[in-house]
Amino acid sequence: MSEPVTFIHLTDLHVGNPAVPDDHLYSDTTTTLRRILAEIKTLVPQPKFIVASGDLTNRGDAASYENLKAILAEAGLDIPILFALGNHDRRDGFYPTMLGRSDNLNAPYDHAAVIAGIHVITLDSSVPNKIGGAFEAGQLDWLKAELDSHAELPKLLVMHHAPALDTHNPDMEWESLSYADTESLRQAVAGKNVIGILSGHIHYDRVSNWYGIPTVVGIGQHAATDVTWLHEGLRMLDGAAFAIGTLRPSGLSITFAPQAATRQPLHSFTWVGMTEALKKYEADTAVAAAE
Ligand SMILES: [Fe+2]
Repeated sequence: MSEPVTFIHLTDLHVGNPAVPDDHLYSDTTTTLRRILAEIKTLVPQPKFIVASGDLTNRGDAASYENLKAILAEAGLDIPILFALGNHDRRDGFYPTMLGRSDNLNAPYDHAAVIAGIHVITLDSSVPNKIGGAFEAGQLDWLKAELDSHAELPKLLVMHHAPALDTHNPDMEWESLSYADTESLRQAVAGKNVIGILSGHIHYDRVSNWYGIPTVVGIGQHAATDVTWLHEGLRMLDGAAFAIGTLRPSGLSITFAPQAATRQPLHSFTWVGMTEALKKYEADTAVAAAE
């Protein structure tokens, strides 16, 4: 690889179903996605691929995926898009609508592709009706086999939940991949030419060096976590961004493309009572999914 290869990292699209009111949708994600796709269309040269690292929709219902599909079609981009699933997605909503698949609707969505000399490995870290991430039986074995294939190629991992940076506070495990799977992932990727991990979930731009691997999370397109308020709790502001990745012989760089934003508060929770509130949210989501 001598010429730079560019790609796009989208995350947390949270596309809604315009026909159904949604108390948990705080911004016009349809308009934001349309605007971001229009910006991507102006890039020269055009990126080789787009990754969308989960929370593609806000509720995971088929109509929301239909809306996502329509927005993508309307944008008219001639660029492959690789989807990961997040905690707001539902496999039984995603598979039939986005892939036309009618069997095995509860299986995790893991897939890999080689594009422009990059081996992109997408892992499903979502756990039905849970906010935090984890792997199911078999996913790590699949990952290890992928990491051993195309050994000469740089590998990019895409997963909604980034590995945990701190693993001492069980009350915060919902922010990341589970602590146990973070450790398993660390062992699996060691020495395997992983040039980066692209994630979302926590809705702010953050770049970390995780055991030597650049690990990137993005604000996404729904609402931006106020990083100046994290000592109190979660305050979501008006704000969105996407990122442009560039792989050169010297390594990977990530350039953030923020959208115009008022930074007005949209919603907030304090940490007091948060653990109970999150459990209630998971229970409510499970009930809604069962209806
Ligand atoms: Fe999200």
